[in-house]
Amino acid sequence: MFTPRAIGYVSSPYKTTSEIPKGLNTRHDAEGVLRILRDFELGLTDIEGFSHLFVIWEFDRSPDFALLGSPPFEERPHGVFATRSPRRPNPIGLTVVELLRRQNADLYVKGVDMLDGTPILDIKPYMSSVPMEKLRRGWLAEAEARKALEER
Ligand SMILES: C[S@@+](CC[C@H](N)C(=O)[O-])C[C@H]1O[C@@H](n2cnc3c(N)ncnc32)[C@H](O)[C@@H]1O
Repeated sequence: MFTPRAIGYVSSPYKTTSEIPKGLNTRHDAEGVLRILRDFELGLTDIEGFSHLFVIWEFDRSPDFALLGSPPFEERPHGVFATRSPRRPNPIGLTVVELLRRQNADLYVKGVDMLDGTPILDIKPYMSSVPMEKLRRGWLAEAEARKALEER
């Protein structure tokens, strides 16, 4: 297995996890900067043409992992691989962000849900290929339906 290394760090408005919006139907509109290290700047060539990016990053402030857990908005536990829990055996996060602009090795983006200083492991252009009618959202869809009923 390879040893991951940071290609850069996230500048985020969030200093603590409690500041990050959580819950069903949460929208992540916060803006941040992906500050890529100079050694990797050449790898950003032609990235400006993409509207959205996958950012792969490390949950560097997750102390441990749990195979079962209940998300903040859900009482029932689910397997870690059926959730986006930060407490994973390999603490890897994945966020889709909108690329607003590039300034040298800094990518200004919208949609960050990471803490300030989070190490970035990789960036790839986002390409959606699964048609909406083929997407199944498992327990999340059930939780959303329950919440909608409660709010009626
Ligand atoms: C539910 S996870 C989802 C992250 C990503 N979108 C994903 O799907 O992998 C987002 C939460 O991770 C936590 N978090 C963000 N940055 C972190 C970091 N650097 N280390 C540990 N936990 C972090 C915060 O509590 C935040 O609300």
